[in-house]
Amino acid sequence: MPVWDPSTYLEFADDRGRPFADLLARVAAEEPTTVVDLGCGPGQLTATLARRWPRADVLGLDSAPEMVARAQAYGGERLAFAVADLRTWAPARPVDVLLSNAALQWVPDHRALLPRLLAAVAPGGWFAFQVPGNFAEPSHTLLHELADRPAYAPYTRGVEQPAAAGPADYLSDLVGLGCTVDAWETTYLHQLDGPDPVFRWVSGTGARPVLQALPEGLREELAAAYRVRLREAYPAVDGCTVLPFRRVFVVARTPR
Ligand SMILES: C[S@@+](CC[C@H](N)C(=O)[O-])C[C@H]1O[C@@H](n2cnc3c(N)ncnc32)[C@H](O)[C@@H]1O
Repeated sequence: MPVWDPSTYLEFADDRGRPFADLLARVAAEEPTTVVDLGCGPGQLTATLARRWPRADVLGLDSAPEMVARAQAYGGERLAFAVADLRTWAPARPVDVLLSNAALQWVPDHRALLPRLLAAVAPGGWFAFQVPGNFAEPSHTLLHELADRPAYAPYTRGVEQPAAAGPADYLSDLVGLGCTVDAWETTYLHQLDGPDPVFRWVSGTGARPVLQALPEGLREELAAAYRVRLREAYPAVDGCTVLPFRRVFVVARTPR
């Protein structure tokens, strides 16, 4: 399994954190007692949940031990982190707020998991998630064009590929399960600086599985070609590179 590097991921923490705040802004839970963040990553966003709901027990779960190890630094009396796979996780008792930010795209066929995830939420509780919706953008398509070349394909065939549906699909799934749903999309225009910023961004997330699947030598070769193509697709103007990034948001309230 490809590993996560929390430091590489956190390089763009401010840009990556904004969708989490935008998602949370639509969760109107007043006094939840249990809040769970699935795929919590390095934990800095989970920690904001403990500040927003100071009387709640907040639990961040992630399947990557390296992410959970980083998140433990934020742990406290009402904030805990543990390694768990969201595909099999089930709480002892239903929780009041269940969140997942930028994680479900890593779970193939995650729409089939929605009934199980909803069953983990108490009646009248909240289930909110955000997933990227940019898989048809050059940041992804250029990588896959390269990865499919004969020199790389023997290593890259079958590696994890993030994927997600559109807001209307999730809305229909969750309304069908009896929820009241708010679903929408937003395209952020991230303004990045420094050398090869789009490469630095994607190598912390979506491009990791392909890059890590390649042996030394081939990895550097593919990365060099990918950087050139990304620079052409996302040209820097006066040192600033604009990365348009569509994201899909869903906030569901379970029936009482
Ligand atoms: C892009 S990071 C997002 C981290 C954090 N939620 C944030 O918004 O910064 C995706 C996270 O999902 C986690 N993840 C992927 N598949 C998972 C699974 N099946 N169960 C739990 N966590 C998972 C990864 O380990 C990673 O930490």
